[in-house]
Amino acid sequence: MARSQRITRWIILALLVDLLLLLTVAGLGVQQASSLDAIPEAPKPTPTPTINPRPPLRSLAEEHGLLVGVAVAPGYLEDPTYTALLKREFNAVTPENVMKWDTIHPESDRYDFSGGDAIVNFARRNGLKVHGHTLVWGNQLPQWVLEGDYTREQWIEILRQHITTVAGHYRSSANDHTLIAWDVVNEAVGKNGELFDNFWLQKIGPEYISLAFQFAREADPDALLFYNDNGGEGLNPKSQGIYNLVKGLVQTGVPIDGVGLQMHTASGQAPSTHELAANMKRLSDLGLQVQVTEMDVRTQYSQDLLPQKLQAQADVYRQVMEACLESPGCTGFFTWGLTDRFSWIPGYTGKADYPLLFDENYQAKPALDALLSILEDR
Ligand code: XIL
Repeated sequence: MARSQRITRWIILALLVDLLLLLTVAGLGVQQASSLDAIPEAPKPTPTPTINPRPPLRSLAEEHGLLVGVAVAPGYLEDPTYTALLKREFNAVTPENVMKWDTIHPESDRYDFSGGDAIVNFARRNGLKVHGHTLVWGNQLPQWVLEGDYTREQWIEILRQHITTVAGHYRSSANDHTLIAWDVVNEAVGKNGELFDNFWLQKIGPEYISLAFQFAREADPDALLFYNDNGGEGLNPKSQGIYNLVKGLVQTGVPIDGVGLQMHTASGQAPSTHELAANMKRLSDLGLQVQVTEMDVRTQYSQDLLPQKLQAQADVYRQVMEACLESPGCTGFFTWGLTDRFSWIPGYTGKADYPLLFDENYQAKPALDALLSILEDR
């Protein structure tokens, strides 16, 4: 075979091999593509049951610099189910009754700090803050006060001693800054914005309010001092009266740091987000903090079925939190109780009700989901 012939043959052979290789690769490609479709799906991993995957309310609230708390009684703090939920979801508590005058100062010469101490000690051990409630109020006064026959000067002295002793006992600095705020004066304004004609107004006159704040500041210089009231959350004659009162206090140098909006309300009766935010804004423009201090939302007046009632209730909670998040001065959001099991509303109204964030079995309600989602969105 001539050399040139051999070379030609090699070239042809090499070309044939190339062609074959090319066909094989192409074929494989097709085969691969089609066989991919045919690969049976890998078995999905069995889902691991997740226990309560939602974040705690308090961790979302803390991202907004907000205190979230509930009103408690000492007895509840002995139930581990209750305390587990409380510690997981909230970073603050307020005593529902035990720091009120009739409990903490039952006789003229006797104070009973046992209930308040139980709450403050629990809070300190568990890293919660306490909002003290309340130093001066016309309700829940002991017999010795209601029946006392004293002069105006003596009543001022009684008020001074009470505030000095109670606020002094829980002085923030002496309690590792656990109790950080006081409702100094509770519910001093009437429906039409005038000063409410309560026990202290009758005994001392309007000065009881500024005196109470001064006594409280002297007794606990570190605690934030609040004026707290109900029904003046939106824009109405009462909130105007509260605004005028606290503006006067600020302007005359009375030591006040904040206004508490109690927010005992019902679906269909709550102020709109807009109104609430406007009220919060004018208060914080005075240099005051604003907190929602006692929120609960009654369901009893609605004719709807329970699921609809709870949804309407959730909307109210959402609106109020929304207003708080829109208002730079809003620093706290408290509900008047942890679970429907212990709400004061059924006892107060004589009717069944479900006003809080957790149901009677400590399960989260739509209202809690509403708060979580608005905190997450903002
Ligand atoms: C309520 C308590 O929840 C009840 O247990 C008690 O019988 C009456 O007082 N505004 C306030 C709270 O400032 O102190 C009230 O608490 C509810 C209305």
